[in-house]
Amino acid sequence: MNAKKVIVDCDPGIDDSLALMLALSMPEIEVVAITVVCGNVPVDKGAKNAKLILDWMGRTDIPVYIGEEKPLHRPYIDAMDTHGQDGLGESGYLPPEIQCEPLDAVSFLSETLRTQSDISVIALGPLTNFARLLEKDVQAFCNIQEFVSMGGSYRSHGNCSPVAEYNYWCDPDAAAAVYEAYASLPQLKDKKIHMVGLDVTRKIVLTPNILEYMQCVHPVWGERIKRITRFYYDFHWKQEGVIGCVINDPLAVAYFVHRSLCSGFDTYTAVETQGISYGQTLCDTYNIWNRIPNSHVLTQVDVKSFMHLFLCTVLKADPHQAEQVLCQILTKEALA
Ligand code: BDR
Ligand code: CA
Repeated sequence: MNAKKVIVDCDPGIDDSLALMLALSMPEIEVVAITVVCGNVPVDKGAKNAKLILDWMGRTDIPVYIGEEKPLHRPYIDAMDTHGQDGLGESGYLPPEIQCEPLDAVSFLSETLRTQSDISVIALGPLTNFARLLEKDVQAFCNIQEFVSMGGSYRSHGNCSPVAEYNYWCDPDAAAAVYEAYASLPQLKDKKIHMVGLDVTRKIVLTPNILEYMQCVHPVWGERIKRITRFYYDFHWKQEGVIGCVINDPLAVAYFVHRSLCSGFDTYTAVETQGISYGQTLCDTYNIWNRIPNSHVLTQVDVKSFMHLFLCTVLKADPHQAEQVLCQILTKEALA
């Protein structure tokens, strides 16, 4: 099988960690490198957490590059209220003593993508590293084969303001620059950002029943996932009255390989950078602005198939059994 080469840009982060586990378990993906950006936690902490997941996965051969430590213009606001002071739900796991690469993430992206056009990006945090890459090396940016970004929302409400999702709210100027590049650079006229926003990720809820099943099928991984998501459970209950936790980032990884998991439409999307709605994505569904579509905005997701993929890939669940268990759990939860 020809695995798709990918750079995962992330801010681990509880759900970023689950996304890394998925990416590193999928034979269809070759993770060339991990770049880290400030977001859920400061960038150094995020890099340590990425190293921990690589260690757990036996993949410390994959290089980790430290990226931008603050947004382009706005003051940096982390999400440690959601992800814990350690970014891993205060789980107490200690990151291994492994060094990151000496080169910074933006220079790495520039050097690598300048000469290679077969590498895609799955961006799971604020888009600061890519806005900086645009400033530094437009050609390298344009060589990104496919760009999948967890961020934004189309019809769903926000999670940082009534209208804004965290990744784009944290650095709206970076998100705006990246979306604008896809609308205006002639080299990108045939490419679009795959916007994996809250409309679809909000439906991916890791419920207590699914977590229980994870512990049954793979006690080691089940326990790790339980420990890092416990804090996230408490946050979701207090904040949104949800029993379970929304795991946004792994869906972007799953969708990168299995496009049929989600569907959506092509449109021009702009990101607001000012005023009370900063960070909001404005998707011009009716082409009122008459701009070139720069995004593929996802609106529908097959939740059961995603969960099945995660269980069978990361937890090595038996596919037939996982199917039966999910039918039980999801039907019951849908009826409740
Ligand atoms: C996004 O923000 C972060 O808190 C998560 O890791 C995810 O990438 C969801 O809004
Ligand atoms: Ca993230």
